[in-house]
Amino acid sequence: MSWLMAKVYERTCMAAEKAGLSDWRAGLLAGLEGSVLEVGAGTGLNLTHYPKAVTRLVLSEPDRHMRSALMRKRGAQLARSMEVVDGSLDRLPMGDASFDAVVATLVLCSVTDPARALAEIHRVLRPGGQYVFLEHVAADPHQEPRRYKWQGRIEPFWKRAMDNCHLRRQTDLHIRGAGFDIERMERDSIPKAPPWVRPSVRGIARRAQ
Ligand SMILES: C[S@@+](CC[C@H](N)C(=O)[O-])C[C@H]1O[C@@H](n2cnc3c(N)ncnc32)[C@H](O)[C@@H]1O
Repeated sequence: MSWLMAKVYERTCMAAEKAGLSDWRAGLLAGLEGSVLEVGAGTGLNLTHYPKAVTRLVLSEPDRHMRSALMRKRGAQLARSMEVVDGSLDRLPMGDASFDAVVATLVLCSVTDPARALAEIHRVLRPGGQYVFLEHVAADPHQEPRRYKWQGRIEPFWKRAMDNCHLRRQTDLHIRGAGFDIERMERDSIPKAPPWVRPSVRGIARRAQ
């Protein structure tokens, strides 16, 4: 199924991207500089938003169909050094403290073990380096009980159809518990996304100096 996901992914995101998700990406990435690792880079929806101050960009992606899509987009990034590598957050093929920033957008919903994935992000960041995140998360069961209930009903089918994407994952709590200094974390609704993937968090966390 992953070939199909790689083929249709951008079309499924288009309404949300146009309605504001693309602006969120741009805002999150605007301050980056130096060497940046993006994990689970997918088809490369963040690529056009990296500023010129990013001098080295490494895109890590475990799915070969997604990697092919990334290779096709490389032309847009010729101005800077960019590498596409086969890498999973289960165990990244990068050395300790090797990046100024790590970017992960809409990725932790799909990994097998979020705590392990966050430990890997922490490991490859230099002290003081930034972890930039944007993730859809579980609805708040007290504030939005109906949405939370529907996320639970849909999740078993959704996970199977969408390559292990979890709807009720409390990724915000995982991030808070992973040993980063949280610089900012905003909770917001992804505009025009399917109702069960709207609750989201985005922000910047840092590895302590
Ligand atoms: C919903 S897509 C998001 C793609 C892109 N980051 C974006 O913002 O549009 C999820 C991506 O996470 C990748 N992924 C799934 N499991 C992963 C893992 N264990 N490590 C790294 N990436 C993973 C998938 O292959 C897919 O490209």
